[in-house]
Amino acid sequence: MTSPSPVLNTVSRSSADCSDAGPGPGSAIIALQEIRKTYFKPDGSVMVEALRGVDISIEPGEYVAIMGASGSGKSTLLNVLGCLDRPTSGRYYLDGRDVARMNDDDISRYRGRKIGFIFQAFNLIPELTIVENIEVPLFYQGIAPAQRRETAIEMLSKVGLDERTDHRPSELSGGQQQRVAIARALAMRPAVLLGDEPTGNLDSKTGRDIQNLFQSLHEQGITILVVTHDPNVAQRCKRIIRLADGFVVEDRPVVN
Ligand SMILES: Nc1ncnc2c1ncn2[C@@H]1O[C@H](COP(=O)(O)OP(=O)(O)O)[C@@H](O)[C@H]1O
Ligand SMILES: [Mg+2]
Repeated sequence: MTSPSPVLNTVSRSSADCSDAGPGPGSAIIALQEIRKTYFKPDGSVMVEALRGVDISIEPGEYVAIMGASGSGKSTLLNVLGCLDRPTSGRYYLDGRDVARMNDDDISRYRGRKIGFIFQAFNLIPELTIVENIEVPLFYQGIAPAQRRETAIEMLSKVGLDERTDHRPSELSGGQQQRVAIARALAMRPAVLLGDEPTGNLDSKTGRDIQNLFQSLHEQGITILVVTHDPNVAQRCKRIIRLADGFVVEDRPVVN
């Protein structure tokens, strides 16, 4: 045989792109390779294998639902994706860099620049006005005050709340508070927006408003991954990844 097999071809091409051995992330914004997450008991024995060899590749601009029964590993996966937790083994390339090889300080800085989080419980700081809430991550990234204010107001206008800058979270409805949380997540212009059941605490009408906002962010090219139990939420995404017992059991485009 004179020509190498296609498999060898692929391996040699991608290892030339990347200083590490093995294939790199290619054009993916997120590339998980053989990710495992094991929770151990204090005596060192295995308690739960929450992720058992997960391979996922997400291209920039994708809009993805992560589904699965309670206990299937969704939150664990989101915590790994969001660099809040390290996998036990496997590779995680976020925007081209192997996060598993960074030290804790580098990871938290990188996370702050690359990841926007949205939680079910909004997690706003009650003592701060909504514009100040959005300024918090900008403060931690060392952005100057005038620039912080300008960006925060721009983000509030993106979510339709620029008239409410001086209100406190308690003066807003649940849906409005989640808009503030989304504005805060967008403030660092992250590469990826991650949501863990972001509409789980909202009534269905308000939930749909937030989904419309996600849809418009998706149309602006933002990469979005949301964990959801709700088939209606998932159906508005472009791809569904389903977990069961720590494995990806389904990964398919949504036809709509
Ligand atoms: N901090 C932890 N310590 C031990 N086990 C955990 C921890 N977090 C999650 N688990 C276990 O890992 C599995 C996956 O949990 P999780 O990722 O929260 O699933 P989901 O979000 O799909 O409900 C479950 O069996 C859960 O009990
Ligand atoms: Mg969960």
